[in-house]
Amino acid sequence: MIDQADRLRQIIDSLKIKQAEAQANLLNSMRRKTSKVITVTSGKGGVGKTNVTINLAIALSEMGYRVVILDVDFGLANIDVLFGIIPKYTLLDVIHNDMSILEILAEGPKNIKFISGGSGVEELVKLDKIQIERFIENIALLDKISDVIIIDTGAGLSDNVMSFVMAADEVLLVTTPEPTSITDAYALIKMVSNRNKEKLIRVIVNRAENSNEAIDILNKLAVVSDKFLSLKLHSLGYIVQDEAVIKAVKMQQPFSLSFPKSHAARHIREISKKLMEKKEEDKELTNTGIKSFINRLVNFWNN
Ligand SMILES: Nc1ncnc2c1ncn2[C@@H]1O[C@H](COP(=O)(O)OP(=O)(O)OP(=O)(O)O)[C@@H](O)[C@H]1O
Ligand SMILES: [Mg+2]
Repeated sequence: MIDQADRLRQIIDSLKIKQAEAQANLLNSMRRKTSKVITVTSGKGGVGKTNVTINLAIALSEMGYRVVILDVDFGLANIDVLFGIIPKYTLLDVIHNDMSILEILAEGPKNIKFISGGSGVEELVKLDKIQIERFIENIALLDKISDVIIIDTGAGLSDNVMSFVMAADEVLLVTTPEPTSITDAYALIKMVSNRNKEKLIRVIVNRAENSNEAIDILNKLAVVSDKFLSLKLHSLGYIVQDEAVIKAVKMQQPFSLSFPKSHAARHIREISKKLMEKKEEDKELTNTGIKSFINRLVNFWNN
């Protein structure tokens, strides 16, 4: 009996500590004057970037963070399909129709805000200096209304995607256990390392069979990146192959809302916690926020 009571007390204590930590983390983020800009990308297409983006946004929102998703996939509109909503406006309306960035926000579930890039990003490249400055002042409003901005990109090693990768405060690189997906992920890491070895890249293995398979892949990628590219990778975790994801996609709903008890939903919650933990590598981050992000983006295009 005494054992059980002790055990219960221990559990309650550890819950209290966890709660206090979560509150401290949240307060920390609220104190940030700028949002954390995260680019979600992959070497190979179809590995789960859009699903990660949306469900991570939901998990973060449930933790109390304010999240904006920016969809810059130039191909098919992705996020809208999974949210089952069609945004009225895109970034183009900010660039050409003088709308405020706040006016073009679409409302997703759990209070998540969502911006469709449309072909607006390609248009941005064509703007002159004064127009860009006006755009930056406009988009900087996002820092005031969000803690995290998640950018969902298309796959691949194109200049467009690379510019979003290089400009981000941190990069979430998604791969599956498929050998082609891993080699393409490595190719992307190599391109990043050629430009900036300090870039914060966190890897997620999606569609893993089990944790051992995922850990093995994460370790191998980290070892080769360190050895051959001198770039330190960080692993963020894994999501198992889960029928719930496929079902939810067919229903045009985020799996963490339709199937909150699924393995995939649990794994994405673990990933979101790890993402927001105060970490050593965070100290290196300076000039965070959407304004610095756009400045780096423009610099990338002009070089
Ligand atoms: N954990 C998972 N378990 C089972 N199926 C998954 C999982 N993750 C993704 N999928 C499947 O992979 C498909 C592609 O996912 P998603 O659209 O998120 O990939 P993507 O990387 O955004 O693709 P694209 O490169 O075309 O933008 C989903 O429709 C789903 O069927
Ligand atoms: Mg996608």
